[in-house]
Amino acid sequence: MTVTLVIGTQWGDEGKGKVVDYFSKDADYVVRYHGGNNAGHTIKVGDEVYKLHLIPSGVIQGKTGIIGSGVVLDPEILINEINELTKRGIKPKLLISDRTNIIMPYHKILDGAEEKYLGDKKIGTTKRGIGPCYSDKVARKGIRAIDLTDKKTLNKKLDHIIPIKQKILDVYKIDKKLDKKEILDAYSKYGEKLKDFIITTHVELNKAIKNGKNILLEGAQGTMLDVDYGTYPYTTSSHTIAGGSTIGAGIGPKYIDEIIGIVKAYTTRVGEGPLPTELLDKDGEYLQQKGHEFGTTTSRPRRCGWLDLVVLRHACMISGITKLAITKLDVLDSLKQVKICTHYQLNGKKIDYFPANIEDVKQCKPIYKEFKGWDEMDKNSSKFSDLPKEAQEYLNFIEKELQVPIAVVSIGPGRRETIEI
Ligand code: GDP
Ligand code: IMO
Ligand code: MG
Repeated sequence: MTVTLVIGTQWGDEGKGKVVDYFSKDADYVVRYHGGNNAGHTIKVGDEVYKLHLIPSGVIQGKTGIIGSGVVLDPEILINEINELTKRGIKPKLLISDRTNIIMPYHKILDGAEEKYLGDKKIGTTKRGIGPCYSDKVARKGIRAIDLTDKKTLNKKLDHIIPIKQKILDVYKIDKKLDKKEILDAYSKYGEKLKDFIITTHVELNKAIKNGKNILLEGAQGTMLDVDYGTYPYTTSSHTIAGGSTIGAGIGPKYIDEIIGIVKAYTTRVGEGPLPTELLDKDGEYLQQKGHEFGTTTSRPRRCGWLDLVVLRHACMISGITKLAITKLDVLDSLKQVKICTHYQLNGKKIDYFPANIEDVKQCKPIYKEFKGWDEMDKNSSKFSDLPKEAQEYLNFIEKELQVPIAVVSIGPGRRETIEI
């Protein structure tokens, strides 16, 4: 039995979908335990490309996907995703926690309204209702998956919640009348469609652990989007670090055997907020074009920069990362020179930690170590020693600085373009 956790170490889109798909071959269950359809995980198998927002990436390998209680779930999106996959010949095996909070229409409206109200201070959210849904969860005004299967309870909850939400919409001057009956009918229908999937997933998972099954926990977003440890307030609303996984999946921390931190070989970010190594020059443009750095969920261009060890040290420390998977190394091919940020300069001092104050983060100037670039690598490389010497040096430096072993190097989006070390 092994429980393996896969998490993003940067600002999301590190290639978690690809790595989770790769490791799913040995898994019995693959669990999404936080976030919602703000996530976009890409899996490429041969010529087929799958972009999953809610369904765990392991279903592509035919494994059972679990949506844990820590996820915020938009049922309309999930049903569409199930239908899409089914049409493509993959009937997903899926289980949904009865405790999962549901994204309601007013969450999506409010996400947009709050962003509009913030103006140039906006977070740049995906406008999928993620923040408002998590806010309701902790304010104890959430609708949970189990409520969708019981129209009476749902009706009672909506009677309580909808007038409050209407008042908030009025404050934001949003010209929208929430129609309780319409929402009740639509969400009861979603409940009808999903009821066979909705179970007490943490009991199923704990039984699986006792029975020696292999479990893969699939993180969404990345460390720097964590609501406590990220670039707050420019973060998402959930815990993206390792600690979030046991809460969102409902298993004890002692069961986690490996924590794999996914590191894109450079840095990207979608949305607002500081990005200390951001490149606003031709190198940034090169990374964006060569890496196809456009959001999987919103198609927004991703901001690009050099690799940042201050961020990665922070990620390794908070999550106790045991192994690294480096992705998109191939995107750095053909550059004359590549750089790694080792420290920041802040108010005349050299620092090696990530500051809490967002105004300080905005002032941080990266200190770089320069590396000689390499020519196009052989995409059929199957061993570390097949990689260009300069690329090996780049990886060796990362490993030495972080003192965490690199277990996987990804040199292309496909399953086969993966080197295990
Ligand atoms: P996730 O959110 O962490 O799952 O990442 P996304 O799927 O949003 O973005 C990663 C993108 O990079 C996807 O288009 C992947 O197909 C692609 N990708 C993943 N690994 C590699 C790699 O090693 N090389 C290249 N060139 N592309 C990769
Ligand atoms: P995956 O799992 C990249 C970003 C948004 C925004 C901030 C808050 O594909 O790596 P939210 O809608 O969550 O309230 O938006 O978080 N964001 C992501 N960026 N990858 C993601 O997921 C993201 N999920 C949220 O762009 O800046
Ligand atoms: Mg993504």
